[in-house]
Amino acid sequence: MPHNGFVSLVGAGPGDIDHVTLGALKALQTAQALLYDALVSEDILSLAPQRCVKICVGKRGDRLSVSQDKTNALMVRLAQKGLQVVRLKGGDPSVFGRVEEERLYLEQHGIDHKTLPGVTAASAAAAQFSFPLTHRGEARSVTFLTGRTKDGAIDLRHESLNDPMASLVFYMSSHNAAHIESSLLKAGRSKQTPVVIIENAGRPEGQMRTGALDDLARLVDHAAFSGPVLLGVGSAFGYARQTLVQRQVLPVATRSGMR
Ligand SMILES: C[S@@+](CC[C@H](N)C(=O)[O-])C[C@H]1O[C@@H](n2cnc3c(N)ncnc32)[C@H](O)[C@@H]1O
Repeated sequence: MPHNGFVSLVGAGPGDIDHVTLGALKALQTAQALLYDALVSEDILSLAPQRCVKICVGKRGDRLSVSQDKTNALMVRLAQKGLQVVRLKGGDPSVFGRVEEERLYLEQHGIDHKTLPGVTAASAAAAQFSFPLTHRGEARSVTFLTGRTKDGAIDLRHESLNDPMASLVFYMSSHNAAHIESSLLKAGRSKQTPVVIIENAGRPEGQMRTGALDDLARLVDHAAFSGPVLLGVGSAFGYARQTLVQRQVLPVATRSGMR
């Protein structure tokens, strides 16, 4: 039986509605079924029509609400009914977003699909707290790493670990801060390497803590996080500034001492 169902795998950005792309907005406005992640905000969900079926398939850390297999099956079932399905993911679908698993499953079931990019949390954090991810002569690469792998282990053998010119951004890693700190020090990174810990990047409630690598685990331990968290390690993060409002009230001498 022919169907014209279609699945758009869409990046919602890190939470704030201002980060939704025009492409994502158009896909949301014409969605007939919406399968969304836990990190997608209410504001963004409200861009879809009221009559659109909205199902949360979100995952937060170990708390699985819907398994990946069920999400895959749901996408296919809704598309086979002839619906325009939006699979809405936090940030960018291609960054720790399991997008390839979903695309392969759709293809195995003969469902047409397209992917729309979104702003990844690291880019939103860099904009919100005014630091570069790469910086000429100082940070020549940026690596996105995860502290949560399929088998639960964190693999810190990447070649950029001991490169002082590499920026490292750790997703899903706050629970592994002590291991990250000791591994990077062991790999030869300086104790003074700047670090940032950013919660709720790109959202009005976004918060940043700054310090040096040998203090990373302590800084994370002393924070009580309620939102998603990124860790940044590398000299580029030394340029981080608190938000504009706070920066305006800082005396110039303090500002220049921030690096
Ligand atoms: C499954 S990954 C998804 C990443 C997403 N695809 C992206 O591009 O940002 C979830 C992790 O991304 C990070 N993350 C997502 N949104 C964030 C935000 N607004 N602020 C800080 N970290 C965020 C956190 O480390 C969180 O545990």
